[in-house]
Amino acid sequence: MSDLEIRVAAPQERAAIENLMQLYVHDFSEHWSDQDRGEVGADGLFEPYPLDPYWRDAAHIPLLVRRGGHLAGFALLDAHSHAGGTVDRNVAEFFILRKHRRGGVGLAAAQAIFARYPGVWEAAIARRNVEALHFWRRATAIYAQVEEIDVLSDDWNGPVIRFRV
Ligand SMILES: CC(C)(COP(=O)(O)OP(=O)(O)OC[C@H]1O[C@@H](n2cnc3c(N)ncnc32)[C@H](O)[C@@H]1OP(=O)(O)O)[C@@H](O)C(=O)NCCC(=O)NCCS
Repeated sequence: MSDLEIRVAAPQERAAIENLMQLYVHDFSEHWSDQDRGEVGADGLFEPYPLDPYWRDAAHIPLLVRRGGHLAGFALLDAHSHAGGTVDRNVAEFFILRKHRRGGVGLAAAQAIFARYPGVWEAAIARRNVEALHFWRRATAIYAQVEEIDVLSDDWNGPVIRFRV
């Protein structure tokens, strides 16, 4: 996908991730009708996401995805393993704006990001996010040592895909 651009977000681009995060959390809140989380405050906004480590710690990487120069999504990477053990990279969050979905942007962005950071990766998928499981199975199918681990712990509830790039 030649018009796709993925760059590490500069500190002055943090607001773009904060704003896109509102849309991301809104998408997720669809799964939370039976839970306390997912309410907006009096200002109509969801709680801010803890983004400070992304411009402080080397293992935390904030990425912006653009298509044809327009923001199309973001990815947040860290090194946390949901399945136990150690990983080089973890997809902490990954989001493509609705306008740009189902056209291959997510797949191209994910694989471009994986290629940029070789090593052992994990993507953890919330149990109710069945669409994302289809997506991550597809996006990781080309890599070595792909395994899907079902995790039910204090830390996570859902499948974790681990693979080597
Ligand atoms: C999941 C998400 C990133 C997919 O992005 P996208 O750009 O639409 O994905 P692509 O078009 O590259 O899809 C690639 C493949 O993934 C699968 N896929 C993607 N979205 C899917 C869906 N809603 N239902 C089923 N399969 C899906 C399909 O196999 C698809 O190939 P196809 O279109 O040829 O059938 C996007 O829907 C999103 O941001 N969702 C909300 C946030 C989220 O759930 N993030 C993941 C957190 S773990």
